[in-house]
Amino acid sequence: MKLIILGPPGSGKGTIAEKLSKDFNLYHLSVGELLRKEIAKNTPIGKRIKSLEKGSLAPNKLVNDIVKSNIKDKKSFILDGFPRTFSQVKETAKMDIDRVIYLDISEKAVIKRLSGRRVCPKGHTYHLTNLPPKKPGICDIDGSKLERREDDQPEVIKKRFRIFYQEIKPVLAYFKAKNLVGEVDGNRNPEIVYQEVKKLVKKSE
Ligand code: AP5
Ligand code: MG
Repeated sequence: MKLIILGPPGSGKGTIAEKLSKDFNLYHLSVGELLRKEIAKNTPIGKRIKSLEKGSLAPNKLVNDIVKSNIKDKKSFILDGFPRTFSQVKETAKMDIDRVIYLDISEKAVIKRLSGRRVCPKGHTYHLTNLPPKKPGICDIDGSKLERREDDQPEVIKKRFRIFYQEIKPVLAYFKAKNLVGEVDGNRNPEIVYQEVKKLVKKSE
């Protein structure tokens, strides 16, 4: 199965993709996660894309190359946050995508959500009140210390939202024309959102 999950910043893409990857045995590719690792390790790529922390997108060619090289030997995957631009959408033409899930949410709800988000260095994601870890400040899965993401400041969130809506229209139009899009209201409780997403995925099995 080949899935794509899209949605505004903080809509729950990573949370849902992590669950789907376990339940359906899919390779989870979060481009944002990969790029953040490059920045953390201060690699040549990381140095080029430091502006991500201020809300800008990474260059299309770089992102397209990263995605292609990561999925080249994968039969089942979920792409989290890719494609985000029209240049990127063209890369999916040969991928035989089965379903595109679009999580919708308001900007107001996201600002509240992201102020409570905490992540571990490997990208496991929690929320102080909505999805707390078992031990405060510590990742349930690998025991590392939880941190705030650099781009989770209100001003940066606003910029991420603005860019997201500028770029996503032609992407959604492309997938809608192929009848692949299933929209889910991401404002609700994580378990309800997940059950609805799961139904959509099962339909495309
Ligand atoms: P990326 O890491 O993909 O960031 P994003 O799109 O802004 O989305 P987030 O990861 O912030 O949120 P999410 O939807 O995964 O939500 P989450 O599950 O964490 O990308 C980061 C940056 O990298 C981009 O800004 C861009 O610069 C660059 N980039 C990435 N992809 C690119 C591309 N294709 N092209 C160019 N540049 C690219 O949930 C959020 C919080 O809410 C968590 O705390 C979670 O626990 C909680 N939560 C989740 N679901 C619920 C729920 N239903 N109810 C309540 N709380 C919930
Ligand atoms: Mg994410």
